[in-house]
Amino acid sequence: MIGIFDSGTGGLTIARALADHLPGYDIVYFGDTARTPYGNRSPEAVIRYTLRNIHFLLDKGAKIIVMACNTASSFADEHITKRFDIPIFEVITPAVALSLNVSKTFRIGVIGTRATVNSGIYEKKIREINPDAKIYSAACPLLVPLVEECWTDKPETRMIVKKYLYPLKVRQIDTLILGCTHYPILKKIIQRKIGKRVNLIDSSLAVSETVKDFLEKHPEVDNSLGKEGKAEFFVSDVTEHLENTARIIFKRNIALRLIRI
Ligand code: DGL
Repeated sequence: MIGIFDSGTGGLTIARALADHLPGYDIVYFGDTARTPYGNRSPEAVIRYTLRNIHFLLDKGAKIIVMACNTASSFADEHITKRFDIPIFEVITPAVALSLNVSKTFRIGVIGTRATVNSGIYEKKIREINPDAKIYSAACPLLVPLVEECWTDKPETRMIVKKYLYPLKVRQIDTLILGCTHYPILKKIIQRKIGKRVNLIDSSLAVSETVKDFLEKHPEVDNSLGKEGKAEFFVSDVTEHLENTARIIFKRNIALRLIRI
């Protein structure tokens, strides 16, 4: 099983990309919908939820885990993930690597939740590789609720995206990291508002490539993963609306199972 978790439904963009890149691999997804959004919570709370989510996925038989949440990935660093004896992937490093590959001017924008942006994790990781890169970040706290509401093509959403992106646009970035797993759902609007010459870095693609590469290089891990095409989706709270959002993001009908953890 490949275990995947997020604070809610946004991580389904990563689950979708993983299912497309690794067809037939069994997946188990957990969305902590009772506690979403993580983006406005303290680092301590996010770390506590992250540890609990990892334990839940381990109990379900996960042999590798993808933290499909930038906020969790910002705080649950190696000190935390190394406590477990299975590979745990985060979403930030692959997006950083891809952004530095495609950027020509090294003027890079990052958008994410307030917690992710305040953590400074993208700046830190980009500067570790390219100390001269110019990084401009913007917290976009309204975008997650807009995606959760399925307001993906409303004039109001376009206006809010435009307002959030303006400070990055004037900095003439050539690459923009979508530092939240909900944002690929708004990719078209974001591209339109930031300009068609700006490369958008979608972490769902970057992460699924990283996992695929890893499994090719580690057949012992690959062999431990079930490949019967099973997919289970657990959430800590469920409503009809949530089921609809999950179906839109995962692009398939899925049954959400309620688990009280
Ligand atoms: N999907 C989460 C992320 O990538 C954002 C949602 C939240 O704030 O919980 O950061």
